[in-house]
Order: sequence, then structure tokens, then C-alpha cells
Amino acid sequence: MQRSVGIGLMKRALEVVESQRPELADRYMQVPLEYYTREDLAARERELFETQPLALLASTEIGAPHDYRVRDAVGRSVLLTRDADGTAHAFLNYCRHRGAEPASGCGNARAFSCPYHGWSYDSRGRLVGMPLRDRYEGLDLSQLGLVELPSEERHGFVWVVLRPGAPIDVAAHLGELDDEIGALGCAGMTYHASLERQPLGASWKSVAEGLVESLHVPFVHPDTFGLNPQAVGVDLAFYDAIGPHVRYGLPKFGTDDVARIRALAEDDWDPPSSIGCVWWISPGLLLANELYGLIYADLAPGSHVREAIFRYGWLSPVETAPPGEPSPDEMAARAARAVGQDRPVWETCGRGLANGAHGHALIGRNEKGVQLLHEAIARQIGYEGLRYC
Ligand code: FES
Ligand SMILES: [Fe+2]
Repeated sequence: MQRSVGIGLMKRALEVVESQRPELADRYMQVPLEYYTREDLAARERELFETQPLALLASTEIGAPHDYRVRDAVGRSVLLTRDADGTAHAFLNYCRHRGAEPASGCGNARAFSCPYHGWSYDSRGRLVGMPLRDRYEGLDLSQLGLVELPSEERHGFVWVVLRPGAPIDVAAHLGELDDEIGALGCAGMTYHASLERQPLGASWKSVAEGLVESLHVPFVHPDTFGLNPQAVGVDLAFYDAIGPHVRYGLPKFGTDDVARIRALAEDDWDPPSSIGCVWWISPGLLLANELYGLIYADLAPGSHVREAIFRYGWLSPVETAPPGEPSPDEMAARAARAVGQDRPVWETCGRGLANGAHGHALIGRNEKGVQLLHEAIARQIGYEGLRYC
């Protein structure tokens, strides 16, 4: 967390804790149920996922030359590689012969041999070999490489735009958050997977709601997080919309700590360990500082409007936890447990929002993160049905 940003957030955290009131939205929001289920809106949302940069991997997941990893991204199989010179690439993982997937899983490999008829590709996506080569006389192999997707490595992630030939500019996409995300120091962190590809039976927008509020934590995760009961867990938080992104902060200290913090010079404040910060980066990336590392998750629409796909893990700056803290793998396992607790509730919401006859979902003034999230999505897809009361 940047120092200058952190001091501003600390002041707001202190206010929230002292007043025992979160930063409130001006009004209640009414979200029409159609917003979660309309196919035409879902198509416009897919457009966001196809044209905005997605942080598909932590850089360290393909840290060495010839490391690779295949992952699902909004219904596509994407092969991410690091070539011999250390440059990361992203390819649509579809063979130029008849479309099978040349690569699977992850590891270190100089070539990927398609399982169907053995055409093989290198880590720059070039078609470098095929069995029965003499049967293919006259074919220009240089025109038959894997289709490369625009990608950029920045702030410790490999960002990809899923549309070949489209522009990519991650700094422009992050806008005012660019420096702040850079300051998180993810470039040297290792990824510990919690969930690789978890389908959820709910609209991705409904799932996303649960990632920008802490109101549900004491009900759904009563024993999962070692929270300071005096501080976090109901609604004491503060929120910002930053371009299409949302940031929210949860004070990790309680009223008992306020006098001690106020007695310190601002220079001695420690915002990163005093505030749990969550960044929702459009369209579906979640970063959140948690103990000594970061939650790194992404959410995307599934194959239909009532399905979301979730990938979730934990980024750690160290291999051995600081004394008294859970290990990186335990952090990742805890995150998986938490999602396991959220999942049944999210799925009942999916059914309720699809089958309910109550017209709209009601988002409270103390769920300002949810309001800001929907405003950002609605603005981007041109949906004008959000109402306030
Ligand atoms: S589909 Fe890949 S070699 Fe035939
Ligand atoms: Fe949760």
C-alpha cells in the first residue's frame, strides 16, 4: 500500500471505528432481478471480459523460461508460456490442424505436442513439427502458429486480452490505481492455489456482491477468519469508486486501539497492517491484503447467465510464515474453506434472483461497495435500470 494513500485511508478507518458507523451510501439501491438474468446484458458483460485486460496468472506461476500453464478464461483454453528469453506469452490453446488442445496442465516444456495427431508448437507458439511431414509439402508452417493473444506483464501478473489483435494497456486500465497495485509488491510473490476452476450456480454479479462487503462474514464464516471481533465482520468499512474499479477498506483495529493510534505521529502509523484493503478491479479481479500476503482471485461469467467461474488463491511474499501466522498453504486452504461456505449461499441467491417475484434486490446504505460495483458495471454495459429510494 502506498504510504500517501495509506495515511488517507487510516484517517477514514479511525473515523469509522470511533463513530462505529461505516461510510454509508446516500440511498438504498434497488437492483431489478432482470439485471442478474437477462441474456442481452450477459452478452454485454462478456464484451467487458473480452476487451479488458484480465490478470490470468501471477508472474511466478510461469517464473522460469519454458514454464507454462493452461487455464480456462471465460470459456476459452488459454496457454500461457515464458519463452527462452523470459518473455511471457498467451495463446489460444487450439491446434491449427483440427482444433484439439495441444497443451494441458502446467510444467516446464520446450514444445507442446497435440494429443490428436502430434503437431507440435514451441513456447513462442510456432508450429515446429508434425508427423508425416512429407505429406504436407508446400505448407507454410510459419502461418500455422497458435493464435497469440495480447498480453503484458505488469505488477507481478500476466495480463491478457482475450481478443486477438486488440490493444492492451494495463496502466491505462488501472488508471489511478496503477501505482497502488504496483506498490503491493506482487512481482516477487508466489501463488498458492485454493481453487483452480470452481463453477458456481449464480450470476457472476451476484457472487461479486459477496466479495465487496463484509456484512455476511459473521453469519457465513463465523469461525473461519481470526478476526478482531471488535473491529471487522459486520459493516464497519469505507469505500471508493476509482474509474470502473472499487476499493474498500476494513479497519483491523477496534475502539480500544484508537487512543493508542491517535497518540502516534502519522509517520508511525502502519496502514497495511491496520487496514484490510480489498481491490475489485474491473471486470472480475479481486486482490485483498490478508495477514502477510494477498488474496488473488478472479471471477468470470460461466457458460450461461446463472453460472460463474471462480479461481482463487493466495500470494505469499515468503515461503515460511512469520512466527505465529498460518503457512502460505494454510492460508490458501482457509480461503478454499471460506469459498466452500459462501458457495451454497451464493447458489441460493442465484435461485432466488432468478425465480423470485419480488421485483428487485435491495442493497443497503451500509453496502456501499455493492452499490459502487453495480454502478460501475451498469455504466460500462449501458444498463439504466438501477433505482434508488
Ligand atoms: S488436432 Fe492437433 S494435430 Fe490434429
Ligand atoms: Fe464470504
